[in-house]
Amino acid sequence: MERSLVLVKPDAMKRDLAGAIIARLEKLGLKLVAAKMLHADKALARKHYAVHKDKPFYDDLVNYISSAPIVACVFEGKGAIEAIRKAMGATDPAKAEKGTIRGDFGESIEHNSVHGSDSPATAEEEIKLFFPPGEIFGY
Ligand code: RTP
Ligand code: MG
Repeated sequence: MERSLVLVKPDAMKRDLAGAIIARLEKLGLKLVAAKMLHADKALARKHYAVHKDKPFYDDLVNYISSAPIVACVFEGKGAIEAIRKAMGATDPAKAEKGTIRGDFGESIEHNSVHGSDSPATAEEEIKLFFPPGEIFGY
C-alpha cells in the first residue's frame, strides 16, 4: 500500500493547526500509520530537503524547518501521494486553490504549512529519515 510522509510545518504548529491538517488527510480515507512531534535539528532538515541543496532558498528552508517543533506523520492508502499533494495545493499559497490546506492556511511560499512526499521513491527515503520500522503501525 502506498505511503507518504507528511510534515506539519512550524508556521502551522504555531497557529495550532496540526489537528486541522491531520483531520483533512484522514477525511481523504487515508490511514494514519505513524505520528510524532519532534524538533528537527539542522542535520535532519538538510537531509530531508537535500534535493534542494543547490537552490537559493535552501539555507532559509533548513533554518525554517528546524525553527520550531513539527508533527511528522505517515499516511497510507491507495494513491496516497497524489491525494495528499492535491489536498495540500500549490507550493505558493497565493496560487493554491481555496479548500486546499495551503490555500486556506499557508502564509507564504516558505511558510506553507505542510509537506507531503512527491513520489514513491522520495516517500520511502523521507519515511526512513523520520521513522524506524517499529514506529509504523498496521491496524
Ligand atoms: P514540500 O517539499 O515542502 O512538500 O513542498 P513542495 O514539494 O510543494 O515544493 P518544493 O519545490 O519541494 O520546495 C520545498 C519547499 O521549499 C520552500 N520553497 N521556497 N523561496 C522559494 O522560492 C521557495 N520555493 C520553495 C517551500 O517551503 C517548499 O514547500
Ligand atoms: Mg517537495
